[in-house]
Amino acid sequence: MKFKRWMPRVLVFLLAMSSGLLYVRSSKGQISYRPKKQPIAFNHFVHVHENELACEDCHQGVKTGYRATLPTTETCSLCHSEPQGSSTKEKALIEGYIKEGKPILWQRLFVLPDHAVFSHRIHVVRGGIACQDCHGPMDMQKEPPRRLLKVLTMDDCMDCHKQQGALLDCNGCHR
Ligand code: HEC
Ligand code: HEC
Ligand code: HEC
Ligand code: HEC
Ligand code: HEC
Repeated sequence: MKFKRWMPRVLVFLLAMSSGLLYVRSSKGQISYRPKKQPIAFNHFVHVHENELACEDCHQGVKTGYRATLPTTETCSLCHSEPQGSSTKEKALIEGYIKEGKPILWQRLFVLPDHAVFSHRIHVVRGGIACQDCHGPMDMQKEPPRRLLKVLTMDDCMDCHKQQGALLDCNGCHR
């Protein structure tokens, strides 16, 4: 193909269109699958199994609200304002955040699109459903997974709702 003056402009236009579409799909219409990196290599296994913390000690909204929430620096400071065990690079990092009173910008992996409604309280307390059924073995992770261990699509929500006799009405989940 011979080079024409309009070619670069068409190429730029197509690139802009496709990245624009990708952005809209991942931020508004659908669950995002982009890998994310956490500011500290947090270890669920050490906290949940070796030190017997409950999920709601850190995910404080999980039994009371819509969002489970991610922990604040104050929650970590309950223990890490004092050195815990032998010092490591990751422990020095968390101690630094606490000393400076800086927020830790945890990245959420699971973000439903704005049009879908989900309440943790209703599923965990009223429905009695285990975290692992929806999130996979998060409690066993020794470092933060970069992607969701388990994805729940609309079909997954519907399958369980059919089995358990919960709502199937479009307006119940969408606004
Ligand atoms: C029935 C499925 C289901 C169960 C059970 C469940 N979750 Fe979730 N979880 C979700 C969905 C869906 C999202 C995304 C919600 C959104 O974007 O509004 C989510 C998001 C989260 C997040 C991200 C932060 C946030 O505030 O949304 C955390 C942390 C979390 N869940 C922890 C837990 C813990 C801990 C438990 C058990 C005590 C639990 N979840 C039980 C489905 C579930
Ligand atoms: C109830 C006390 C407690 C709380 C709250 C707590 N931790 Fe820990 N943390 C510990 C203990 C105990 C250890 C293990 C010390 C050891 O034996 O090496 C640990 C270990 C760690 C390590 C090293 C992990 C590894 O792989 O060895 C990091 C990093 C860490 N914590 C970060 C955090 C962060 C971030 C928070 C807040 C979200 C937090 N901790 C909340 C008690 C706590
Ligand atoms: C000591 C605090 C602490 C405890 C206890 C804890 N978590 Fe977490 N959790 C975190 C932190 C910090 C993150 C973000 C970094 C990461 O992914 O490791 C996180 C992330 C998550 C996520 C990913 C949420 C998202 O963004 O989509 C899930 C799911 C989750 N935790 C489930 C659990 C479950 C289930 C338990 C109990 C078995 C639990 N956590 C106990 C601190 C904690
Ligand atoms: C493992 C089973 C299971 C999964 C997966 C599940 N649900 Fe549910 N859901 C239930 C049960 C059980 C109830 C009824 C709880 C009750 O009222 O006792 C419920 C209730 C609801 C309600 C009604 C709340 C109210 O006000 O009564 C909404 C909305 C909802 N779920 C949305 C979702 C969405 C969105 C997803 C997927 C992201 C989802 N659910 C995934 C089991 C599940
Ligand atoms: C139990 C909860 C639930 C019910 C009931 C439900 N949805 Fe959804 N729906 C979701 C969730 C969660 C998503 C986002 C995750 C995904 O895209 O799979 C979604 C996504 C969608 C999307 C966007 C899909 C895309 O690819 O962007 C459409 C359109 C939709 N639903 C239509 C409907 C219609 C029509 C009904 C009624 C027949 C319905 N939904 C009933 C939970 C539900």
